[in-house]
Amino acid sequence: MKALILSGGHGTRLRPLTYSQQKQLIPVANKPVLFYAIEDVIEAGVREIGIILGPNKEQVIETVRSANWDANIEFIYQGEPKGLAHAILCAEEFLDNEEFVMYLGDNILRNGIIEHAKRFKELNPDALILLTEVEEPQRFGVAELDEKGRVKRLIEKPKAPPSNYALVGVYFFKPVIIEACKNIKPSWRNELEITDAIQWLIDNGYRVEASIVTGWWKDTGKPEDILEANSLVLDEIEEKIDGLVENSRIMGRVVIEEGAKVMNSVVKGPCIIGRNSRIVNSYIGPYTSIGKDCIVEGTEIEDSVIMDGSVIMNVGRLVECLVGRNVRIVEENSKPKGYRFVLGDNSSVVL
Ligand code: TTP
Repeated sequence: MKALILSGGHGTRLRPLTYSQQKQLIPVANKPVLFYAIEDVIEAGVREIGIILGPNKEQVIETVRSANWDANIEFIYQGEPKGLAHAILCAEEFLDNEEFVMYLGDNILRNGIIEHAKRFKELNPDALILLTEVEEPQRFGVAELDEKGRVKRLIEKPKAPPSNYALVGVYFFKPVIIEACKNIKPSWRNELEITDAIQWLIDNGYRVEASIVTGWWKDTGKPEDILEANSLVLDEIEEKIDGLVENSRIMGRVVIEEGAKVMNSVVKGPCIIGRNSRIVNSYIGPYTSIGKDCIVEGTEIEDSVIMDGSVIMNVGRLVECLVGRNVRIVEENSKPKGYRFVLGDNSSVVL
């Protein structure tokens, strides 16, 4: 089986971060979200992976190539994000009439996909979609199942949901999905929708089965989703102190990467401090990821993601913050007194 991992799209809901960074590269517990998907498909035995690229294609290629993978990885340029079914059509040559798993590169599944890959093999359907029970199905793509548990219908954000089963961003397909993608028309938002292609399979007599996801699943489409995914992943992190700790108190499961220095500070896990970062006279609280090459001085941070190269000095207490790369937040004693900002379009500051 092959894998198609989607790393295109504009990620408008994550602006301003996504003006300069492809959203699947945003770190969760100091690892790009995309890497969780790559690891999951490799763990399920896949050795041929195609990665769909969008606007920031060089970044994605460079980041993926910076790690060693036990698989062949090909890059497929989609360009404008014209929908998930369009992404499949762009990959027609790579897929080469074989069955495949499609994995949205901004999704994280706690328990991976091994169980679902097995179910796809056993049931041998034309498509197998992953579902999870949610409290507000109105906000999701929802599946209606028949008495045998097969998929009867898919509905996007239904006003009257026929079930609580929302679609998770992982799908298993037989090659017939290509024919389905070729036979559908763009939706009102001018995208070739994967839900329409799956519905085409059902309407044309193909068998679509479902597999229920146990354990958490997170679609990291919005800032609050990144913070939540970060806490979920950190919740299971194992303690590892490779950096230097001086005159500081470390409590709970804390990762301090090589070259990092923690001085005169309190660090309370679960949290991670990245390579070559410096934490001085500060408090780093639970559910915080500090990237590499950061400086935090005289500041308290909790429940936050601070990306590589950022400098935060003497700013009191930060909570639930998502801070991009090379950001500088400092309190100075110069006059005139007051907040001074240089913020990109679509930034959000809550004081
Ligand atoms: P979405 O989150 O639906 O779209 P988006 O990334 O453009 O985000 P936003 O709505 O905030 O603008 O996409 C789901 C996943 O699929 C995501 O990982 C991006 C990827 N994708 C593609 O690779 N190609 C596409 O054509 C589309 C629509 C999405």
